[in-house]
Amino acid sequence: MRVLVVGGGGREHAICVKLSQSPNVSELLCAPGNGGIASVAECVPVIATDIQGIVALSREKAVDFVVVAPDDPLAMGCVDALEKAGVPAFGPTASAARIEASKTFSKSLMREYNIPTARWASFDDVVEAVRYLDGQSLPIVIKCDGLALGKGVIIAQTRAEAESAVCDMLEGERFSEAGRRVVIEEFMEGREVTVLAFCDGETVVPMPASRDHKRAFDGDRGPNTGGMGAVCPVPDYTPELAARCMDEIFLPTVRAMNAEGCPFKGVLYFGLMLTKDGPKVVEYNARFGDPETQAVLSLLDTDLMEILLAVREGRLKDITITWKPGAAAVVVLASGGYPGDYGKGYAISGLDSASDCEVYHAGTARTGEGYVTAGGRVLGVTAVGGTLTDALENAYRGAAKISFSGAHYRKDIGSTTKELLQYNG
Ligand code: AMP
Ligand code: GLY
Repeated sequence: MRVLVVGGGGREHAICVKLSQSPNVSELLCAPGNGGIASVAECVPVIATDIQGIVALSREKAVDFVVVAPDDPLAMGCVDALEKAGVPAFGPTASAARIEASKTFSKSLMREYNIPTARWASFDDVVEAVRYLDGQSLPIVIKCDGLALGKGVIIAQTRAEAESAVCDMLEGERFSEAGRRVVIEEFMEGREVTVLAFCDGETVVPMPASRDHKRAFDGDRGPNTGGMGAVCPVPDYTPELAARCMDEIFLPTVRAMNAEGCPFKGVLYFGLMLTKDGPKVVEYNARFGDPETQAVLSLLDTDLMEILLAVREGRLKDITITWKPGAAAVVVLASGGYPGDYGKGYAISGLDSASDCEVYHAGTARTGEGYVTAGGRVLGVTAVGGTLTDALENAYRGAAKISFSGAHYRKDIGSTTKELLQYNG
């Protein structure tokens, strides 16, 4: 099959590497891809949000199957447009992708179908939003309704901070469309877990649970980022919790989407908080997470292409998906200044010496001599090991060998998860 992957980050690199190993894939294209992806796929300079461009490319290259990975093209109806043009595509329709693209939609869905989540209210009027704050306890969480690259969430510690976040989102320039509505919700305390699940509209097959590290600096300090690292699996997500999440969250969500007339096919991302009252949904995403995917897919044993086909064709219950034992870890190397402003074009050295790792490129470009930085998150150094400790050691050994001007990475990826593991024996 000739397969096109839409996107150009670390997640897409990991998906491309997996697909390039599939006996079902004879040719692999990626739009737009990046410097690293070019070593496993033919990169074509069509941006992911150019829906008509993606459809035209798929036709021109006689593509047999398209994998739409990022949130924006999914929300814009890329899968709908491809399928309408007769090109089989993996991912939810625009209508189903609202589960990520509109927090008001997802929170209403959870309310209607009794899926546990934080108490909330949504507003498009500043005066009403500010009045609502009066009755709430602190800290309180303020979110943009729409997509905002993981940066549209403020955890306000004071009333003044909450008010300024509400005003900034509803009236400021920074969030434009995404901030036309805000969701104000209760702060939930607990540990976060990500569960990615293959979903064909009926059957849900969760992948091993993972844990993302969203803050920029060690000790979960600094601003939120797209994700600075991840580990998989996580020991505090026990089989008992997994069964409970299946009954209380995963299946009810899939049934709710069916009942709403927008069956979900693709990867459904459950961002969960393990609170003292049980697991609750922090957020849904309508796609593979980044960087969780780089860790999770490292442990996948089954041919990814076979799974993606089964999802699209509604045959998930007929296939068996197996995972490798052990653990995986990814450490993200970011540009100096990220998630704020950063420079680009710095030469990257040491890529070949990280030999025990898969180095997934998130923001790189290829030049005559090698690779240069081209984004905020530059590389995801990913390793597996018999235990989480081994996987982390391998990933950090790899990360230490790679350098570029201004590079920074967190030194504590997986450390709280590792402590839990020791505590649990
Ligand atoms: P979201 O984009 O909704 O995933 O939010 C980004 C991050 O903010 C989450 O991963 C959590 O760490 C944090 N967060 C969001 N909502 C809540 C909440 N209600 N309570 C506590 N933390 C939250
Ligand atoms: N790692 C969080 C996300 O993909 O949104």
